[in-house]
Amino acid sequence: MSFVEIRGFGKAYGATQVFADVELDVSEGEMCILLGPSGCGKTTLLRAVAGLARADCGRLLIAGRDVTAAAPEARGVAMVFQHYALFPNMTVRQNLAFGLQQKRLARARIAAKVDAALTLMELAPRADARPAELSGGQKQRVALARALVLEPRLLLLDEPLSALDAQIRKRLRDELKRLQRETGFTAILVTHDQEEALVLGDQVAVMHAGRIVQTGPAREVYDRPATRFVAGFIGDFNLLEPDAVLRVFGEHADRAWAIHPEAIDLLPPAAGQDGLTAEAVVIDVRIHGPVLRHLLLTNGTELKVDVLNRSSIAARRPGDAVRLRLDRSQVREVA
Ligand SMILES: Nc1ncnc2c1ncn2[C@@H]1O[C@H](COP(=O)(O)OP(=O)(O)OP(=O)(O)O)[C@@H](O)[C@H]1O
Ligand SMILES: [Mg+2]
Repeated sequence: MSFVEIRGFGKAYGATQVFADVELDVSEGEMCILLGPSGCGKTTLLRAVAGLARADCGRLLIAGRDVTAAAPEARGVAMVFQHYALFPNMTVRQNLAFGLQQKRLARARIAAKVDAALTLMELAPRADARPAELSGGQKQRVALARALVLEPRLLLLDEPLSALDAQIRKRLRDELKRLQRETGFTAILVTHDQEEALVLGDQVAVMHAGRIVQTGPAREVYDRPATRFVAGFIGDFNLLEPDAVLRVFGEHADRAWAIHPEAIDLLPPAAGQDGLTAEAVVIDVRIHGPVLRHLLLTNGTELKVDVLNRSSIAARRPGDAVRLRLDRSQVREVA
């Protein structure tokens, strides 16, 4: 039995079917990532799990209890909204204390929990500021802290890191993962960011037009996308239609091939011909930090190839001829 069980969930607003046939299982202590393009129904699905929107059909069980019709406050769920809804007239400290006061905790316990959360989120110096006096990143941290301080059984996080700059975002992302491992809370987190999904996700559920089209461990979804949509969303795949496969590798394929940029080896032009190989010309080389992203042209098809950015690697320049090689086991056939 999973901690969260969503069965046959569906919802429409008028003629617009927002999501349908949603089935999702989240184990206790797991971070499940909901990944999908804008407008595919992620926020509405989270709101339905929180009880803030009503699903038209289906059932929701949390910890074995059917909460399909339960009031939001009876679900043991806390939600961090995409657009953090802080109380504008309260200080940071009061925002954090509010939910605990509703639960009628003793004043000293509230103060201790709030102090711990302020320290954890590095908000202590701003504890007496009001939301209007905070930066976007600080507001987002307050929103996260306010949910975490309630120690919910299930935490629903709607793009909680999206407003942060890259560095804080990564730090908070790692912090969130550490916290989840330590305290063992269960979470469903929405993101657009594939790296965030892979780093944070124990399980990744890819959503497309109101349906969950693939779920699995993060590594598996990245390694084995079932469709070209998933391949396009979670990896930076090269997608070769059968005619391109024939042109580039001389192989007959029934379905498109998805190939990770890091799965292709770059060799000198005269190198051996074991595996799938092709002659190519370098069009461009860009530094993506730890990897060098090469754009190659081979028989009229552009390919992306990533190579680790080590100083020992001979620099390739636009115009260089190369041989690319690919192990057949790296090819993912996608529908
Ligand atoms: N209250 C509402 N009334 C009518 N339509 C709605 C309502 N809320 C959402 N929708 C529609 O449902 C669809 C899904 O919206 P939702 O906010 O769930 O998407 P999302 O996946 O969270 O997108 P984003 O990544 O941009 O936040 C959209 O087409 C949206 O216009
Ligand atoms: Mg949304």
